[in-house]
Amino acid sequence: MAAETIAGKLEKARILPLVLLARGEKITLTDDIIVFVFPVYAAGIPAIVERSLANLKINGNPYIAVVATCDSSAGAALGIFDKCLHRFCGRSLDAGWVVYMPGNYTPLYGAESPEKTCRKLSVAESRINGLAAAVGCRQKHRIETIPAPFSWLPEISWRIFAVNVRRADNHFRASAACIGCGLCAKVCPVDNITLNSKNRPQWHHQCEQCMACLQFCPVEAIQCFWWTRGRRRYHHPQLTVDKLVAQKA
Ligand SMILES: Cc1cc2nc3c(=O)[nH]c(=O)nc-3n(C[C@H](O)[C@H](O)[C@H](O)COP(=O)(O)O)c2cc1C
Ligand code: SF4
Ligand code: SF4
Repeated sequence: MAAETIAGKLEKARILPLVLLARGEKITLTDDIIVFVFPVYAAGIPAIVERSLANLKINGNPYIAVVATCDSSAGAALGIFDKCLHRFCGRSLDAGWVVYMPGNYTPLYGAESPEKTCRKLSVAESRINGLAAAVGCRQKHRIETIPAPFSWLPEISWRIFAVNVRRADNHFRASAACIGCGLCAKVCPVDNITLNSKNRPQWHHQCEQCMACLQFCPVEAIQCFWWTRGRRRYHHPQLTVDKLVAQKA
Protein backbone atom coordinates (compact mmCIF):
# COMPACT_ATOMS: atom_id res chain seq x y z
CA MET A 1 0.00 0.00 0.00
CA ALA A 2 2.95 2.29 0.71
CA ALA A 3 4.04 1.69 -2.89
CA GLU A 4 0.64 2.84 -4.20
CA THR A 5 0.77 6.06 -2.18
CA ILE A 6 4.30 6.89 -3.31
CA ALA A 7 3.56 6.06 -6.94
CA GLY A 8 0.39 8.19 -6.75
CA LYS A 9 2.45 11.23 -5.80
CA LEU A 10 5.07 10.86 -8.52
CA GLU A 11 4.64 11.86 -12.13
CA LYS A 12 4.29 9.02 -14.64
CA ALA A 13 5.07 6.40 -11.99
CA ARG A 14 4.39 2.70 -12.44
CA ILE A 15 4.42 -0.13 -9.91
CA LEU A 16 6.41 -3.24 -10.75
CA PRO A 17 5.51 -6.13 -8.42
CA LEU A 18 8.73 -7.84 -7.33
CA VAL A 19 6.92 -11.17 -7.58
CA LEU A 20 7.27 -10.91 -11.40
CA LEU A 21 11.04 -10.59 -11.15
CA ALA A 22 11.27 -13.40 -8.64
CA ARG A 23 9.49 -15.68 -11.15
CA GLY A 24 12.50 -15.30 -13.41
CA GLU A 25 11.47 -12.44 -15.72
CA LYS A 26 14.56 -10.35 -16.52
CA ILE A 27 13.75 -6.65 -16.34
CA THR A 28 15.88 -3.63 -17.24
CA LEU A 29 14.96 -0.32 -15.61
CA THR A 30 15.85 2.95 -17.31
CA ASP A 31 13.80 5.21 -15.00
CA ASP A 32 15.16 8.40 -13.35
CA ILE A 33 13.75 7.51 -9.94
CA ILE A 34 13.48 3.98 -8.55
CA VAL A 35 11.87 3.29 -5.16
CA PHE A 36 11.86 -0.20 -3.66
CA VAL A 37 9.06 -0.78 -1.15
CA PHE A 38 8.86 -3.94 0.95
CA PRO A 39 8.09 -5.16 4.48
CA VAL A 40 10.82 -6.10 6.94
CA TYR A 41 11.03 -9.84 7.58
CA ALA A 42 13.16 -11.25 10.41
CA ALA A 43 15.15 -8.01 10.79
CA GLY A 44 16.05 -8.32 7.11
CA ILE A 45 14.35 -8.34 3.72
CA PRO A 46 11.83 -10.83 2.30
CA ALA A 47 13.79 -13.60 0.56
CA ILE A 48 11.80 -12.89 -2.61
CA VAL A 49 13.24 -9.36 -2.70
CA GLU A 50 16.79 -10.72 -2.79
CA ARG A 51 15.86 -13.16 -5.59
CA SER A 52 14.18 -10.34 -7.53
CA LEU A 53 17.31 -8.23 -7.52
CA ALA A 54 19.19 -11.06 -9.22
CA ASN A 55 16.90 -10.56 -12.26
CA LEU A 56 17.07 -6.78 -12.33
CA LYS A 57 19.31 -4.58 -14.45
CA ILE A 58 19.48 -0.84 -13.82
CA ASN A 59 20.67 1.42 -16.63
CA GLY A 60 21.61 5.10 -16.48
CA ASN A 61 22.15 7.03 -13.29
CA PRO A 62 18.85 6.94 -11.39
CA TYR A 63 18.06 8.11 -7.88
CA ILE A 64 17.44 4.92 -5.84
CA ALA A 65 15.57 4.85 -2.54
CA VAL A 66 13.99 2.28 -0.26
CA VAL A 67 10.93 2.49 1.97
CA ALA A 68 10.72 -0.52 4.30
CA THR A 69 7.66 -1.09 6.46
CA CYS A 70 7.87 -2.88 9.80
CA ASP A 71 5.93 -3.12 13.04
CA SER A 72 8.63 -2.34 15.60
CA SER A 73 12.23 -2.66 14.38
CA ALA A 74 13.72 -2.79 10.90
CA GLY A 75 16.95 -4.29 12.27
CA ALA A 76 19.51 -4.65 9.49
CA ALA A 77 16.95 -4.72 6.65
CA LEU A 78 18.06 -1.62 4.79
CA GLY A 79 21.75 -2.44 5.16
CA ILE A 80 21.09 -5.96 3.83
CA PHE A 81 19.13 -4.51 0.91
CA ASP A 82 21.91 -2.04 0.10
CA LYS A 83 24.45 -4.89 0.02
CA CYS A 84 22.19 -6.99 -2.26
CA LEU A 85 21.64 -4.01 -4.56
CA HIS A 86 25.39 -3.59 -4.82
CA ARG A 87 26.01 -7.31 -5.39
CA PHE A 88 23.35 -7.84 -8.07
CA CYS A 89 22.98 -4.43 -9.73
CA GLY A 90 26.25 -2.65 -8.89
CA ARG A 91 24.32 0.26 -7.31
CA SER A 92 24.02 1.92 -3.91
CA LEU A 93 21.05 3.52 -2.19
CA ASP A 94 20.63 7.29 -2.14
CA ALA A 95 18.11 7.08 0.69
CA GLY A 96 16.58 4.45 2.97
CA TRP A 97 13.59 5.06 5.24
CA VAL A 98 11.59 2.94 7.68
CA VAL A 99 7.82 3.30 8.21
CA TYR A 100 6.03 1.73 11.19
CA MET A 101 2.85 -0.14 10.30
CA PRO A 102 0.57 -2.57 12.15
CA GLY A 103 2.24 -5.99 12.34
CA ASN A 104 0.99 -9.11 10.57
CA TYR A 105 3.26 -11.83 11.97
CA THR A 106 0.53 -13.77 13.81
CA PRO A 107 2.86 -16.58 15.03
CA LEU A 108 4.38 -13.93 17.37
CA TYR A 109 1.37 -11.75 18.23
CA GLY A 110 -2.27 -11.04 17.48
CA ALA A 111 -3.24 -7.80 15.77
CA GLU A 112 -3.79 -4.75 17.93
CA SER A 113 -7.27 -3.32 18.58
CA PRO A 114 -8.99 -1.65 15.60
CA GLU A 115 -8.53 1.77 17.28
CA LYS A 116 -4.76 1.31 17.78
CA THR A 117 -4.41 -0.10 14.27
CA CYS A 118 -6.25 2.91 12.86
CA ARG A 119 -4.00 5.35 14.74
CA LYS A 120 -0.83 3.57 13.59
CA LEU A 121 -2.05 3.55 9.99
CA SER A 122 -2.81 7.25 10.02
CA VAL A 123 0.67 8.12 11.40
CA ALA A 124 2.19 5.84 8.75
CA GLU A 125 0.15 7.46 6.00
CA SER A 126 1.37 10.96 6.79
CA ARG A 127 4.97 9.71 6.98
CA ILE A 128 4.61 7.98 3.60
CA ASN A 129 3.18 11.17 2.09
CA GLY A 130 6.24 13.05 3.38
CA LEU A 131 8.58 10.40 1.97
CA ALA A 132 6.84 10.56 -1.41
CA ALA A 133 7.60 14.29 -1.51
CA ALA A 134 11.23 13.62 -0.52
CA VAL A 135 11.59 11.00 -3.25
CA GLY A 136 10.01 13.35 -5.80
CA CYS A 137 12.82 15.87 -5.21
CA ARG A 138 15.51 13.14 -5.06
CA GLN A 139 16.36 13.87 -1.45
CA LYS A 140 19.43 12.03 -0.16
CA HIS A 141 19.02 10.51 3.28
CA ARG A 142 21.03 8.22 5.53
CA ILE A 143 20.08 4.56 5.35
CA GLU A 144 18.08 3.82 8.51
CA THR A 145 19.71 0.56 9.53
CA ILE A 146 21.83 -1.04 12.25
CA PRO A 147 25.37 -0.11 11.20
CA ALA A 148 28.38 -2.45 10.99
CA PRO A 149 29.89 -3.97 13.08
CA PHE A 150 26.65 -4.34 15.11
CA SER A 151 24.71 -5.71 12.12
CA TRP A 152 26.40 -9.12 12.03
CA LEU A 153 23.95 -10.78 14.45
CA PRO A 154 20.71 -9.68 12.69
CA GLU A 155 22.36 -10.47 9.34
CA ILE A 156 23.09 -14.04 10.42
CA SER A 157 19.63 -14.58 11.92
CA TRP A 158 18.05 -13.15 8.76
CA ARG A 159 20.13 -15.47 6.56
CA ILE A 160 18.94 -18.47 8.59
CA PHE A 161 15.34 -17.26 8.08
CA ALA A 162 15.88 -16.75 4.33
CA VAL A 163 17.48 -20.15 3.80
CA ASN A 164 14.63 -21.95 5.57
CA VAL A 165 11.68 -19.79 4.53
CA ARG A 166 10.31 -21.96 1.73
CA ARG A 167 9.74 -24.95 3.99
CA ALA A 168 8.38 -22.84 6.85
CA ASP A 169 4.91 -23.68 5.52
CA ASN A 170 5.32 -27.02 7.32
CA HIS A 171 3.78 -25.20 10.28
CA PHE A 172 0.56 -24.26 8.46
CA ARG A 173 -2.59 -26.31 9.03
CA ALA A 174 -6.23 -25.78 8.03
CA SER A 175 -8.64 -26.68 10.82
CA ALA A 176 -12.02 -28.39 10.45
CA ALA A 177 -13.51 -24.88 10.13
CA CYS A 178 -12.21 -24.74 6.52
CA ILE A 179 -15.08 -24.27 4.03
CA GLY A 180 -12.99 -25.09 0.95
CA CYS A 181 -13.43 -21.63 -0.62
CA GLY A 182 -9.92 -21.55 -2.14
CA LEU A 183 -9.22 -17.95 -1.13
CA CYS A 184 -5.91 -18.95 0.49
CA ALA A 185 -4.68 -20.34 -2.85
CA LYS A 186 -5.92 -17.26 -4.67
CA VAL A 187 -4.07 -14.72 -2.51
CA CYS A 188 -0.78 -16.60 -2.24
CA PRO A 189 1.70 -14.43 -4.19
CA VAL A 190 3.85 -17.40 -5.18
CA ASP A 191 1.05 -19.93 -5.87
CA ASN A 192 2.30 -22.17 -3.10
CA ILE A 193 -1.17 -23.51 -2.22
CA THR A 194 -3.50 -25.90 -4.04
CA LEU A 195 -6.71 -27.51 -2.82
CA ASN A 196 -6.73 -31.30 -2.52
CA SER A 197 -9.56 -33.62 -3.51
CA LYS A 198 -11.34 -32.75 -0.24
CA ASN A 199 -11.03 -29.01 -0.98
CA ARG A 200 -8.49 -28.53 1.79
CA PRO A 201 -5.34 -26.43 1.24
CA GLN A 202 -2.00 -28.08 0.69
CA TRP A 203 1.25 -26.13 0.94
CA HIS A 204 4.10 -26.94 -1.47
CA HIS A 205 7.23 -25.64 0.26
CA GLN A 206 7.75 -22.51 -1.84
CA CYS A 207 6.49 -20.25 0.95
CA GLU A 208 7.63 -16.65 1.51
CA GLN A 209 5.93 -16.40 4.95
CA CYS A 210 3.91 -13.34 3.89
CA MET A 211 0.96 -14.63 6.00
CA ALA A 212 -1.61 -13.66 3.34
CA CYS A 213 -3.23 -17.13 3.42
CA LEU A 214 -3.63 -16.96 7.19
CA GLN A 215 -4.83 -13.34 7.23
CA PHE A 216 -7.36 -13.62 4.38
CA CYS A 217 -9.00 -16.95 5.29
CA PRO A 218 -12.64 -15.87 5.87
CA VAL A 219 -13.18 -18.34 8.72
CA GLU A 220 -9.71 -18.13 10.34
CA ALA A 221 -9.19 -21.82 9.66
CA ILE A 222 -5.47 -21.49 8.90
CA GLN A 223 -3.12 -21.72 11.85
CA CYS A 224 0.66 -21.39 11.90
CA PHE A 225 1.55 -23.40 15.00
CA TRP A 226 -1.43 -24.13 17.24
CA TRP A 227 -1.12 -20.92 19.24
CA THR A 228 -2.29 -18.64 16.40
CA ARG A 229 -5.81 -19.95 17.08
CA GLY A 230 -7.97 -17.08 18.38
CA ARG A 231 -5.38 -14.38 17.63
CA ARG A 232 -6.82 -11.34 15.89
CA ARG A 233 -5.99 -11.30 12.15
CA TYR A 234 -4.78 -8.27 10.21
CA HIS A 235 -4.08 -7.16 6.69
CA HIS A 236 -3.81 -3.61 5.42
CA PRO A 237 -7.41 -2.34 4.94
CA GLN A 238 -6.69 -1.28 1.35
CA LEU A 239 -5.16 -4.61 0.39
CA THR A 240 -7.83 -6.63 -1.42
CA VAL A 241 -7.98 -10.11 -2.91
CA ASP A 242 -8.30 -8.55 -6.38
CA LYS A 243 -5.12 -6.51 -5.87
CA LEU A 244 -3.18 -9.58 -4.73
CA VAL A 245 -4.40 -11.57 -7.73
CA ALA A 246 -3.60 -8.69 -10.12
CA GLN A 247 0.01 -8.60 -8.86
CA LYS A 248 0.53 -12.13 -10.16
CA ALA A 249 -0.86 -11.46 -13.65
C1 LIG B 1 7.68 -13.33 8.29
C2 LIG B 1 7.57 -11.96 8.89
C3 LIG B 1 8.63 -11.43 9.60
C4 LIG B 1 8.55 -10.15 10.15
N1 LIG B 1 9.63 -9.64 10.81
C5 LIG B 1 9.57 -8.39 11.32
C6 LIG B 1 10.70 -7.83 11.99
O1 LIG B 1 11.76 -8.43 12.11
N2 LIG B 1 10.57 -6.58 12.52
C7 LIG B 1 9.40 -5.86 12.42
O2 LIG B 1 9.35 -4.75 12.94
N3 LIG B 1 8.33 -6.35 11.75
C8 LIG B 1 8.39 -7.60 11.20
N4 LIG B 1 7.30 -8.12 10.54
C9 LIG B 1 6.09 -7.28 10.39
C10 LIG B 1 5.99 -6.65 9.01
O3 LIG B 1 7.18 -6.01 8.64
C11 LIG B 1 4.83 -5.66 8.98
O4 LIG B 1 3.69 -6.35 9.34
C12 LIG B 1 4.65 -5.07 7.60
O5 LIG B 1 5.70 -4.22 7.30
C13 LIG B 1 3.36 -4.31 7.52
O6 LIG B 1 3.28 -3.67 6.30
P1 LIG B 1 2.17 -4.08 5.22
O7 LIG B 1 0.84 -4.07 5.92
O8 LIG B 1 2.30 -3.04 4.17
O9 LIG B 1 2.58 -5.47 4.74
C14 LIG B 1 7.36 -9.38 9.99
C15 LIG B 1 6.28 -9.92 9.27
C16 LIG B 1 6.37 -11.19 8.72
C17 LIG B 1 5.20 -11.73 7.95
S1 SF4 C 1 -9.23 -19.71 2.73
FE1 SF4 C 1 -9.66 -20.81 4.62
S2 SF4 C 1 -11.70 -21.66 4.31
FE2 SF4 C 1 -10.95 -21.09 2.28
S3 SF4 C 1 -9.96 -22.97 1.50
FE3 SF4 C 1 -8.36 -21.78 2.49
S4 SF4 C 1 -8.30 -22.58 4.59
FE4 SF4 C 1 -10.23 -23.25 3.72
S1 SF4 D 1 0.22 -16.87 1.18
FE1 SF4 D 1 0.76 -18.39 2.74
S2 SF4 D 1 1.70 -20.06 1.57
FE2 SF4 D 1 1.69 -18.26 0.24
S3 SF4 D 1 3.69 -17.33 0.56
FE3 SF4 D 1 2.26 -16.32 1.93
S4 SF4 D 1 2.44 -17.45 3.86
FE4 SF4 D 1 3.36 -18.73 2.27
